[in-house]
Amino acid sequence: MFTINENYLKLPGSYLFSNIAKKVNAYQSENPEAQILRLGIGDVTQPLAPAIIEALHKAVDEMANAETFHGYAPDLGYEFLRSAIAKNDYKDRGCDIAADEIFVSDGAKCDSGNIQEIFGLDNKIAVCDPVYPVYVDTNVMAGRSGEYNPNTQNFDGMIYMPCLEENDFVPEFPKENPDIIYLCFPNNPTGATITKAQLQEWVDYAKRIGAVIIYDAAYEAYITEEEIPHSIYECEGARECAIELHSFSKNAGFTGVRLGYTVVPKDLKCGDVQLHSLWARRHGTKYNGAPYIVQRAGEAVYSDAGKAQLKEQVAYYMQNAKVIYEGLKNAGYSVSGGVNAPYIWLKTPDKMTSWEFFDKLLHEANVVGTPGSGFGAHGEGYFRLSAFGSHENTIKAVERITKM
Ligand code: MLT
Repeated sequence: MFTINENYLKLPGSYLFSNIAKKVNAYQSENPEAQILRLGIGDVTQPLAPAIIEALHKAVDEMANAETFHGYAPDLGYEFLRSAIAKNDYKDRGCDIAADEIFVSDGAKCDSGNIQEIFGLDNKIAVCDPVYPVYVDTNVMAGRSGEYNPNTQNFDGMIYMPCLEENDFVPEFPKENPDIIYLCFPNNPTGATITKAQLQEWVDYAKRIGAVIIYDAAYEAYITEEEIPHSIYECEGARECAIELHSFSKNAGFTGVRLGYTVVPKDLKCGDVQLHSLWARRHGTKYNGAPYIVQRAGEAVYSDAGKAQLKEQVAYYMQNAKVIYEGLKNAGYSVSGGVNAPYIWLKTPDKMTSWEFFDKLLHEANVVGTPGSGFGAHGEGYFRLSAFGSHENTIKAVERITKM
């Protein structure tokens, strides 16, 4: 008789956003006339920029001719895209990352879930609390945790680093030394940022204790303040201790197109073994590369026209962030985030739990957000609103919430 991976049974319920979608769908079918406004999952709403559409069309036409047709993509991504990434996201920012240290994939969610495979099961994992659930759940699935503890609302055996108002939602070094540290800045879900000096301290700490940082930079395009780092490789020594994840979903609207990349520098080693070669082996074995047409669309993100159009698109969403932030603040809510990130993190009023506030908002304002407790125990009493809606819906949603 076969057996199953029992680690899956440790995970309570379904994935946060599937759970929310089920609740919202049930409410909508009971109330078909309700005009629900969705500020929950961080999914984009604006169409792909013209430069990207043009690149997609061109690449589709190439697929129609034997001479220009493309089959399997190279395992690690096409050279044209890896070079564009290396130049624009790293070299131009003074970071020492080569094109062959970049692994193109179909998105940062998959990479952030899969990267743990190249590490031993005995590694101690540290995550922020609240946290993007993928980092935790995938390590639980792999067997790097004990059971879920309903009292602490944490998994035994994992290190949780509270991100609270008191520490500006930036974690402190944990008491117990971790082996793998997940950091995401600008942060999902709090919208908080880390300064370069603070990030340098994390890099120094990781090197001192022999840990690896998995740095999720999915939201870097939303940074508006000069002093906030866009990449961990802006810090000295990060090549020896950090892996970085990037997405094209948030900066270029690729949530339905799927494209991302991971950087594994060749200096990152465990003894003599380069993590780069392990991730290359994993990629080659389990993945056949992001589609040619999508990688051409990714290349267009770095064209002059693409850059200008996406700057406008990011500004459009950040205008929403401002509407939410200011609207709620003026209405007396305690809010943070929204300045260098497309997420606004607010305290629930009247000491409501995150899920109580979710229900109230859905039922009384027909607005969907994300309960903070879905991101971890320290998210309880908080709520996340996304700036990825349309401008009209964002204004309507804020009006409805503040009237409530
Ligand atoms: C979120 O809402 O947290 C994000 O959309 C999740 C993701 O990017 O996978």
